[in-house]
Amino acid sequence: MITATKTRVMAVTFLAAALTFSSGLIAAESRMAQVTIKADQGKDTINRNIYGHFSEHLGTCIYGGYWVGPDSPIPNTRGIRNDVVQALRAIKIPVLRWPGGCFADEYHWKDGIGPRENRPTMINTHWGGVTENNHFGTHEFLDLCEQLGCEPYICGNLGSGTIEEMQDWVEYITFDGKSPMADLRRKNGREEPWKLKYFGVGNENWGCGGNMRPEYYADQYKRYQTYVRNFGDNRIFKIACGPSGANYEWTEVLMRELVSGRRMMLQGLAPHYYCGTGRKSRSATQFTEADWLWNLRGALRIEELLAGHEKIMDKYDPQKRVAIMFDEWGAWHAVEPGTNPGFLYQQNSLRDAMVAGLTLNIFNNHAARVKMANIAQTVNVLQAMILTDGPRMLLTPTYHVYYLYRVHHDATLLPTELAGPEYVFESDKLPALNVSASRDSAGKVHVSLVNIDPHHAVDVKAQLQGLTAKRISGQVLTAGAITAHNTFDQPTAVEPATFTDAKVTEGGFRTTLPAKSIVVLEIES
Ligand code: AHR
Repeated sequence: MITATKTRVMAVTFLAAALTFSSGLIAAESRMAQVTIKADQGKDTINRNIYGHFSEHLGTCIYGGYWVGPDSPIPNTRGIRNDVVQALRAIKIPVLRWPGGCFADEYHWKDGIGPRENRPTMINTHWGGVTENNHFGTHEFLDLCEQLGCEPYICGNLGSGTIEEMQDWVEYITFDGKSPMADLRRKNGREEPWKLKYFGVGNENWGCGGNMRPEYYADQYKRYQTYVRNFGDNRIFKIACGPSGANYEWTEVLMRELVSGRRMMLQGLAPHYYCGTGRKSRSATQFTEADWLWNLRGALRIEELLAGHEKIMDKYDPQKRVAIMFDEWGAWHAVEPGTNPGFLYQQNSLRDAMVAGLTLNIFNNHAARVKMANIAQTVNVLQAMILTDGPRMLLTPTYHVYYLYRVHHDATLLPTELAGPEYVFESDKLPALNVSASRDSAGKVHVSLVNIDPHHAVDVKAQLQGLTAKRISGQVLTAGAITAHNTFDQPTAVEPATFTDAKVTEGGFRTTLPAKSIVVLEIES
């Protein structure tokens, strides 16, 4: 299979029976793979925002997940949980999208400012029909981003809000002088404006954000974005609602309407794609190997989707000035038994870690066009990093992938070529291996390798082009079962471990990737 990312996967299914590498005896049924890392050819930067996140007013993501209020016995800073902030700082969360999602297109930001006890309530019609008390609003979100040390990304309401409302929001947040909105901000306790770069003009306007045709959305977008102003030296990076999955017509119409010669009315286009769940079981933790393969096939499909949308974007914008901001993606399983179906609270297993490892490698390899991606959603919703239960908190297998992959943030993407075995199950098969590589500002090369085959290790012979390795070290994420996951009683059932099965060789390195594992290697030269 030849991909647009120069990662070449050739099916070689021979057995490496009783092979002995420097690392010791290798299982009789291990497979062989060849990887070439072109350390002399990097040109694109892996934008750290590819490792971005998304948090919506949905279930217990905001309330309980981040926000417990200043009077809570759960340790907090101005109402925001300290344990969650600390965990997200450890993965260097670069950017956080808020307040939705579908919620964004019925959110009226003025209900979420001023003394909390005076804020009006609303019904969260998309997510469980619960009453939203608006205690977490603009000030609380921007405080959260400051505590996290990340960029805020706000999604405005195009579906049911007015242009004036959207214009006022940007003025409220970013205007430094005297104005009705800046004065209101000061009255609410914030003298200085905030910096706000990323602003989305609507969410899923082909669906929950107003059920629009692309032509209609493009016209609406043109009007709304006109009034999203740059105040002082604040510069807004405007992001248009992108397509769902393989809706190429949406991309075509938006690019045709919004990019004309040197005039661009958008800086980013935001596709969404959820890779689904199992073939038979939707459970996050009780699934078979057929479900495993099904879900991972769905994850790998993002390669084809990116290639399709990029081809259209290249036609209108060959210089790649408009970025793909993939601001919702992830696995979508059944909710945990006994929880509110509208809250999308799901467990997270080794399979989800695989989904994350594969998808992030693919985004890395598309770094020339993909400048942001936001997994859905950070805490307690869908493919979460963190689950909370009152004062308790656990880190999911997906969290650990973000921890291991943080070495790719802002590093230079190194092209790779891969010839590896297939993972075969019954009458189905997929490439077993997936890879991306980068070089950081200190010159260290990092290689993230995913082996989705749950039964077979893979022996990798790697060639480092233009680099002489001196030292190699690594970390591995794996578990005994494909369904392994962390619980509040066993929060460390799946967590990274030191990996010692990689050795420098003449011209590169050799390693053995365990079955169903994610390995991130660090190479010093
Ligand atoms: O992430 C959950 C929902 O999925 C979002 O609100 C919506 O944008 C998407 O359909």
